[in-house]
Amino acid sequence: ELEGQERVFQERIDAGVKIEPKDWMPEGYRKTLVRQISQHAHSEIVGQLPEGNWITRAPTLKRKAILLAKVQDEAGHGLYLYSAAETLGVSRDALIAQLHAGKAKYSSIFNYPTLTWADIGAIGWLVDGSAIINQIPLCRCSYGPYARAMVRVCKEESFHQRQGYDLLLALCNGTPEQKAMAQDALNRWWWPALMMFGPSDADSVNSAQSTQWGIKLFSNDALRQKMVDQTVPQAEYLGLTIPDPDLKWNEERGHYDFGAIDWDEFFNVIKGNGPCNRERLATRVQAYEDGEWFREGLNAHADKQAARGAA
Ligand code: ACO
Repeated sequence: ELEGQERVFQERIDAGVKIEPKDWMPEGYRKTLVRQISQHAHSEIVGQLPEGNWITRAPTLKRKAILLAKVQDEAGHGLYLYSAAETLGVSRDALIAQLHAGKAKYSSIFNYPTLTWADIGAIGWLVDGSAIINQIPLCRCSYGPYARAMVRVCKEESFHQRQGYDLLLALCNGTPEQKAMAQDALNRWWWPALMMFGPSDADSVNSAQSTQWGIKLFSNDALRQKMVDQTVPQAEYLGLTIPDPDLKWNEERGHYDFGAIDWDEFFNVIKGNGPCNRERLATRVQAYEDGEWFREGLNAHADKQAARGAA
Protein backbone atom coordinates (compact mmCIF):
# COMPACT_ATOMS: atom_id res chain seq x y z
CA GLU A 1 0.00 0.00 0.00
CA LEU A 2 1.56 3.29 -1.11
CA GLU A 3 1.37 6.31 1.14
CA GLY A 4 1.56 10.08 0.95
CA GLN A 5 3.47 11.60 -1.95
CA GLU A 6 4.14 8.22 -3.46
CA ARG A 7 0.44 7.42 -3.64
CA VAL A 8 -0.39 10.77 -5.23
CA PHE A 9 2.42 10.15 -7.73
CA GLN A 10 1.05 6.70 -8.64
CA GLU A 11 -2.44 8.12 -9.02
CA ARG A 12 -1.15 10.70 -11.48
CA ILE A 13 0.56 7.96 -13.48
CA ASP A 14 -2.57 5.81 -13.45
CA ALA A 15 -4.61 8.78 -14.65
CA GLY A 16 -2.20 9.23 -17.60
CA VAL A 17 -0.81 12.57 -16.39
CA LYS A 18 2.78 13.14 -17.58
CA ILE A 19 5.50 13.56 -14.97
CA GLU A 20 7.65 16.65 -15.60
CA PRO A 21 11.22 17.37 -14.40
CA LYS A 22 10.28 19.62 -11.48
CA ASP A 23 7.51 17.33 -10.18
CA TRP A 24 8.11 15.22 -7.11
CA MET A 25 9.07 11.65 -8.03
CA PRO A 26 10.24 8.60 -6.10
CA GLU A 27 14.01 8.16 -6.18
CA GLY A 28 13.56 4.75 -7.82
CA TYR A 29 11.58 6.30 -10.69
CA ARG A 30 14.33 8.84 -11.28
CA LYS A 31 17.01 6.13 -11.19
CA THR A 32 15.12 3.83 -13.53
CA LEU A 33 14.68 6.61 -16.06
CA VAL A 34 18.32 7.70 -15.85
CA ARG A 35 19.32 4.06 -16.38
CA GLN A 36 17.04 3.48 -19.35
CA ILE A 37 17.41 6.87 -21.05
CA SER A 38 21.20 6.86 -20.71
CA GLN A 39 21.45 3.29 -22.02
CA HIS A 40 19.24 4.39 -24.88
CA ALA A 41 21.42 7.45 -25.58
CA HIS A 42 24.60 5.37 -25.52
CA SER A 43 22.97 2.92 -27.94
CA GLU A 44 22.30 5.68 -30.44
CA ILE A 45 25.88 6.96 -30.26
CA VAL A 46 27.60 3.55 -30.34
CA GLY A 47 25.05 2.55 -32.99
CA GLN A 48 26.66 5.01 -35.37
CA LEU A 49 29.81 2.89 -35.54
CA PRO A 50 28.73 -0.29 -37.38
CA GLU A 51 27.12 1.79 -40.13
CA GLY A 52 29.68 4.56 -40.16
CA ASN A 53 32.02 1.79 -41.19
CA TRP A 54 30.33 1.70 -44.63
CA ILE A 55 29.99 5.41 -45.46
CA THR A 56 33.23 5.44 -47.44
CA ARG A 57 32.24 2.25 -49.28
CA ALA A 58 28.59 2.90 -50.19
CA PRO A 59 28.10 1.72 -53.80
CA THR A 60 26.51 4.91 -55.21
CA LEU A 61 26.36 8.61 -54.43
CA LYS A 62 22.66 8.29 -53.61
CA ARG A 63 23.21 5.44 -51.15
CA LYS A 64 26.08 7.35 -49.57
CA ALA A 65 23.95 10.47 -49.06
CA ILE A 66 21.18 8.36 -47.47
CA LEU A 67 23.60 6.56 -45.16
CA LEU A 68 25.31 9.80 -44.12
CA ALA A 69 21.96 11.35 -43.23
CA LYS A 70 20.90 8.29 -41.28
CA VAL A 71 24.10 8.02 -39.25
CA GLN A 72 23.85 11.74 -38.51
CA ASP A 73 20.26 11.25 -37.32
CA GLU A 74 21.51 8.70 -34.78
CA ALA A 75 23.89 11.29 -33.34
CA GLY A 76 20.94 13.66 -33.02
CA HIS A 77 18.92 11.00 -31.20
CA GLY A 78 21.78 10.48 -28.77
CA LEU A 79 22.02 14.19 -27.99
CA TYR A 80 18.24 14.45 -27.58
CA LEU A 81 18.31 11.57 -25.13
CA TYR A 82 21.27 12.86 -23.12
CA SER A 83 19.31 16.10 -22.75
CA ALA A 84 16.24 14.19 -21.57
CA ALA A 85 18.45 12.40 -19.01
CA GLU A 86 19.89 15.74 -17.85
CA THR A 87 16.39 16.89 -16.84
CA LEU A 88 16.65 14.20 -14.14
CA GLY A 89 19.65 15.84 -12.51
CA VAL A 90 22.55 13.92 -14.05
CA SER A 91 25.12 15.50 -16.36
CA ARG A 92 25.94 14.35 -19.86
CA ASP A 93 29.64 14.36 -18.97
CA ALA A 94 28.99 11.95 -16.09
CA LEU A 95 26.98 9.61 -18.32
CA ILE A 96 29.60 9.62 -21.05
CA ALA A 97 32.32 8.97 -18.47
CA GLN A 98 30.39 5.87 -17.35
CA LEU A 99 30.15 4.65 -20.92
CA HIS A 100 33.85 5.20 -21.56
CA ALA A 101 34.76 3.41 -18.33
CA GLY A 102 32.83 0.34 -19.53
CA LYS A 103 30.34 0.71 -16.66
CA ALA A 104 27.25 1.59 -18.71
CA LYS A 105 25.16 -0.71 -20.86
CA TYR A 106 24.13 -0.01 -24.43
CA SER A 107 22.14 -2.17 -26.82
CA SER A 108 23.61 -5.62 -27.43
CA ILE A 109 22.95 -5.32 -31.17
CA PHE A 110 25.75 -2.83 -31.80
CA ASN A 111 28.40 -5.33 -30.77
CA TYR A 112 28.07 -7.28 -34.01
CA PRO A 113 30.22 -6.54 -37.08
CA THR A 114 29.02 -5.17 -40.44
CA LEU A 115 30.78 -7.50 -42.86
CA THR A 116 29.10 -6.63 -46.17
CA TRP A 117 27.04 -3.86 -47.75
CA ALA A 118 23.90 -5.99 -47.26
CA ASP A 119 24.42 -5.61 -43.50
CA ILE A 120 23.53 -1.94 -43.87
CA GLY A 121 20.19 -3.00 -45.33
CA ALA A 122 19.66 -5.59 -42.60
CA ILE A 123 20.37 -3.03 -39.88
CA GLY A 124 17.84 -0.58 -41.28
CA TRP A 125 15.20 -3.23 -41.85
CA LEU A 126 15.62 -5.36 -38.71
CA VAL A 127 17.45 -3.22 -36.15
CA ASP A 128 15.73 0.08 -36.81
CA GLY A 129 12.52 -1.89 -37.39
CA SER A 130 12.82 -3.38 -33.90
CA ALA A 131 13.79 -0.01 -32.45
CA ILE A 132 10.54 1.50 -33.77
CA ILE A 133 8.43 -1.30 -32.32
CA ASN A 134 10.10 -0.73 -28.94
CA GLN A 135 9.97 3.08 -29.14
CA ILE A 136 6.47 3.83 -30.44
CA PRO A 137 5.00 2.92 -27.02
CA LEU A 138 7.65 5.10 -25.35
CA CYS A 139 6.02 8.14 -27.02
CA ARG A 140 3.24 7.52 -24.47
CA CYS A 141 5.42 6.75 -21.46
CA SER A 142 4.88 8.60 -18.20
CA TYR A 143 7.93 10.87 -18.25
CA GLY A 144 7.20 13.96 -20.38
CA PRO A 145 10.67 14.81 -21.75
CA TYR A 146 11.37 11.18 -22.74
CA ALA A 147 7.94 10.72 -24.33
CA ARG A 148 8.26 13.92 -26.36
CA ALA A 149 11.80 13.11 -27.51
CA MET A 150 10.54 9.78 -28.84
CA VAL A 151 8.06 11.37 -31.25
CA ARG A 152 10.69 12.82 -33.53
CA VAL A 153 13.05 9.89 -33.01
CA CYS A 154 10.35 7.47 -34.20
CA LYS A 155 9.65 9.50 -37.33
CA GLU A 156 13.32 9.37 -38.25
CA GLU A 157 13.58 5.66 -37.39
CA SER A 158 10.77 5.04 -39.81
CA PHE A 159 12.85 6.57 -42.62
CA HIS A 160 15.81 4.45 -41.49
CA GLN A 161 13.74 1.29 -41.63
CA ARG A 162 12.45 2.09 -45.11
CA GLN A 163 15.91 2.87 -46.49
CA GLY A 164 17.19 -0.48 -45.20
CA TYR A 165 14.34 -2.39 -46.77
CA ASP A 166 14.76 -0.49 -50.04
CA LEU A 167 18.46 -1.36 -50.08
CA LEU A 168 17.71 -5.06 -49.57
CA LEU A 169 14.96 -4.97 -52.19
CA ALA A 170 17.54 -3.70 -54.71
CA LEU A 171 19.95 -6.51 -53.76
CA CYS A 172 17.21 -9.15 -53.89
CA ASN A 173 16.19 -8.00 -57.38
CA GLY A 174 19.86 -8.02 -58.45
CA THR A 175 22.31 -10.78 -59.36
CA PRO A 176 22.30 -14.18 -57.59
CA GLU A 177 25.45 -13.05 -55.75
CA GLN A 178 23.67 -9.93 -54.48
CA LYS A 179 20.69 -11.93 -53.33
CA ALA A 180 22.99 -14.40 -51.54
CA MET A 181 24.63 -11.46 -49.80
CA ALA A 182 21.22 -10.28 -48.57
CA GLN A 183 20.37 -13.78 -47.32
CA ASP A 184 23.69 -14.01 -45.49
CA ALA A 185 23.02 -10.67 -43.77
CA LEU A 186 19.56 -11.84 -42.68
CA ASN A 187 21.09 -15.06 -41.34
CA ARG A 188 23.53 -13.14 -39.17
CA TRP A 189 21.23 -10.28 -37.97
CA TRP A 190 17.95 -12.10 -37.34
CA TRP A 191 18.63 -13.58 -33.89
CA PRO A 192 20.56 -10.59 -32.51
CA ALA A 193 17.64 -8.36 -33.65
CA LEU A 194 15.21 -10.50 -31.63
CA MET A 195 17.50 -10.17 -28.60
CA MET A 196 17.24 -6.37 -28.74
CA PHE A 197 13.90 -6.53 -26.92
CA GLY A 198 15.66 -7.78 -23.81
CA PRO A 199 15.44 -11.01 -21.80
CA SER A 200 12.26 -13.08 -21.75
CA ASP A 201 9.56 -11.70 -19.45
CA ALA A 202 10.40 -14.32 -16.84
CA ASP A 203 13.97 -12.98 -16.62
CA SER A 204 13.21 -9.29 -17.03
CA VAL A 205 14.05 -7.94 -13.58
CA ASN A 206 12.92 -4.37 -14.23
CA SER A 207 9.64 -5.02 -16.03
CA ALA A 208 7.16 -5.17 -13.14
CA GLN A 209 8.21 -1.84 -11.61
CA SER A 210 8.66 -0.08 -14.95
CA THR A 211 5.19 -1.22 -15.99
CA GLN A 212 3.64 0.08 -12.78
CA TRP A 213 5.33 3.43 -13.38
CA GLY A 214 4.08 3.67 -16.95
CA ILE A 215 7.58 3.55 -18.41
CA LYS A 216 7.02 0.16 -20.02
CA LEU A 217 3.67 -0.27 -21.74
CA PHE A 218 4.29 -3.66 -23.37
CA SER A 219 6.43 -6.55 -22.19
CA ASN A 220 9.71 -7.59 -23.84
CA ASP A 221 8.15 -10.79 -25.20
CA ALA A 222 5.02 -9.03 -26.47
CA LEU A 223 7.08 -6.58 -28.52
CA ARG A 224 9.37 -9.36 -29.78
CA GLN A 225 6.32 -11.28 -31.00
CA LYS A 226 5.08 -8.16 -32.77
CA MET A 227 8.43 -7.83 -34.54
CA VAL A 228 8.32 -11.44 -35.75
CA ASP A 229 4.71 -11.15 -36.94
CA GLN A 230 5.44 -7.96 -38.81
CA THR A 231 8.73 -9.05 -40.36
CA VAL A 232 7.91 -12.54 -41.71
CA PRO A 233 5.74 -11.25 -44.60
CA GLN A 234 8.39 -8.63 -45.39
CA ALA A 235 11.02 -11.38 -45.69
CA GLU A 236 8.67 -13.34 -47.95
CA TYR A 237 8.26 -10.31 -50.22
CA LEU A 238 12.05 -10.06 -50.50
CA GLY A 239 12.21 -13.78 -51.29
CA LEU A 240 14.50 -14.40 -48.30
CA THR A 241 14.33 -17.19 -45.74
CA ILE A 242 14.32 -16.43 -42.02
CA PRO A 243 16.97 -18.66 -40.39
CA ASP A 244 14.59 -20.42 -38.02
CA PRO A 245 13.33 -23.94 -38.82
CA ASP A 246 10.73 -23.64 -36.03
CA LEU A 247 9.11 -20.52 -37.44
CA LYS A 248 5.49 -21.36 -38.18
CA TRP A 249 2.12 -19.56 -38.28
CA ASN A 250 -0.03 -20.59 -35.34
CA GLU A 251 -3.65 -20.26 -36.40
CA GLU A 252 -4.95 -20.64 -32.87
CA ARG A 253 -2.76 -17.91 -31.36
CA GLY A 254 -2.96 -15.69 -34.42
CA HIS A 255 0.84 -15.27 -34.23
CA TYR A 256 3.97 -16.89 -35.57
CA ASP A 257 5.63 -19.43 -33.29
CA PHE A 258 9.40 -19.17 -33.37
CA GLY A 259 12.45 -21.09 -32.16
CA ALA A 260 14.37 -20.73 -28.91
CA ILE A 261 16.64 -17.72 -28.50
CA ASP A 262 20.23 -18.39 -27.43
CA TRP A 263 20.14 -16.43 -24.17
CA ASP A 264 23.72 -17.45 -23.32
CA GLU A 265 24.83 -15.46 -26.33
CA PHE A 266 22.73 -12.47 -25.24
CA PHE A 267 24.02 -12.36 -21.67
CA ASN A 268 27.55 -12.90 -22.89
CA VAL A 269 27.26 -9.86 -25.19
CA ILE A 270 25.80 -7.59 -22.51
CA LYS A 271 28.59 -8.65 -20.14
CA GLY A 272 31.03 -7.14 -22.62
CA ASN A 273 32.13 -10.27 -24.46
CA GLY A 274 30.36 -9.91 -27.81
CA PRO A 275 32.29 -9.94 -31.08
CA CYS A 276 32.91 -6.16 -31.12
CA ASN A 277 32.40 -4.82 -27.56
CA ARG A 278 36.04 -3.93 -26.99
CA GLU A 279 36.45 -2.40 -30.42
CA ARG A 280 33.29 -0.26 -30.08
CA LEU A 281 34.35 1.12 -26.70
CA ALA A 282 37.90 1.80 -27.84
CA THR A 283 36.61 3.69 -30.89
CA ARG A 284 34.32 5.86 -28.73
CA VAL A 285 37.09 6.66 -26.26
CA GLN A 286 39.47 7.52 -29.10
CA ALA A 287 36.87 9.80 -30.72
CA TYR A 288 36.37 11.57 -27.39
CA GLU A 289 40.11 12.08 -26.92
CA ASP A 290 40.50 13.30 -30.49
CA GLY A 291 37.85 15.93 -29.76
CA GLU A 292 39.69 17.36 -26.75
CA TRP A 293 41.19 20.32 -28.67
CA PHE A 294 37.77 21.22 -29.99
CA ARG A 295 36.09 21.19 -26.57
CA GLU A 296 38.95 23.31 -25.21
CA GLY A 297 38.42 25.82 -28.02
CA LEU A 298 34.68 25.97 -27.41
CA ASN A 299 35.19 26.53 -23.68
CA ALA A 300 37.82 29.23 -24.26
CA HIS A 301 35.43 31.00 -26.62
CA ALA A 302 32.54 30.73 -24.13
CA ASP A 303 34.76 32.10 -21.33
CA LYS A 304 35.79 35.03 -23.52
CA GLN A 305 32.17 35.84 -24.39
CA ALA A 306 31.19 35.62 -20.71
CA ALA A 307 34.05 37.91 -19.69
CA ARG A 308 33.00 40.45 -22.34
CA GLY A 309 29.42 40.27 -21.12
CA ALA A 310 30.54 40.89 -17.54
CA ALA A 311 32.73 43.89 -18.43
N1 ACO B 1 21.12 -4.85 -24.81
C1 ACO B 1 21.79 -4.56 -23.68
N2 ACO B 1 21.23 -4.66 -22.47
C2 ACO B 1 19.95 -5.05 -22.39
C3 ACO B 1 19.19 -5.35 -23.53
C4 ACO B 1 19.83 -5.24 -24.79
N3 ACO B 1 19.20 -5.53 -25.93
N4 ACO B 1 17.95 -5.71 -23.14
C5 ACO B 1 17.93 -5.65 -21.80
N5 ACO B 1 19.14 -5.28 -21.35
C6 ACO B 1 19.55 -5.15 -19.97
C7 ACO B 1 18.72 -4.13 -19.23
O1 ACO B 1 19.26 -2.84 -19.45
C8 ACO B 1 18.83 -4.61 -17.81
O2 ACO B 1 20.10 -4.25 -17.28
P1 ACO B 1 20.29 -3.22 -16.04
O3 ACO B 1 19.25 -3.58 -15.01
O4 ACO B 1 21.69 -3.43 -15.61
O5 ACO B 1 20.06 -1.87 -16.58
C9 ACO B 1 18.85 -6.11 -17.97
O6 ACO B 1 19.28 -6.36 -19.30
C10 ACO B 1 17.51 -6.76 -17.71
O7 ACO B 1 16.54 -6.40 -18.69
P2 ACO B 1 15.11 -5.79 -18.33
O8 ACO B 1 14.80 -6.01 -16.89
O9 ACO B 1 14.13 -6.32 -19.31
O10 ACO B 1 15.38 -4.23 -18.56
P3 ACO B 1 14.41 -3.07 -19.02
O11 ACO B 1 13.14 -3.11 -18.27
O12 ACO B 1 15.19 -1.82 -18.98
O13 ACO B 1 14.04 -3.42 -20.55
C11 ACO B 1 14.59 -2.52 -22.74
C12 ACO B 1 15.01 -3.43 -21.56
C13 ACO B 1 13.33 -3.09 -23.35
C14 ACO B 1 15.72 -2.48 -23.76
C15 ACO B 1 14.29 -1.10 -22.17
O14 ACO B 1 15.38 -0.63 -21.42
C16 ACO B 1 13.97 -0.09 -23.23
O15 ACO B 1 12.87 -0.06 -23.77
N6 ACO B 1 14.94 0.84 -23.55
C17 ACO B 1 14.75 1.94 -24.44
C18 ACO B 1 15.04 1.58 -25.85
C19 ACO B 1 16.52 1.40 -26.14
O16 ACO B 1 17.38 1.57 -25.31
N7 ACO B 1 16.83 1.07 -27.37
C20 ACO B 1 18.22 0.98 -27.76
C21 ACO B 1 18.41 0.20 -28.98
S1 ACO B 1 17.56 0.80 -30.36
C22 ACO B 1 18.50 2.02 -31.09
O17 ACO B 1 19.09 2.76 -30.43
C23 ACO B 1 18.56 2.12 -32.57
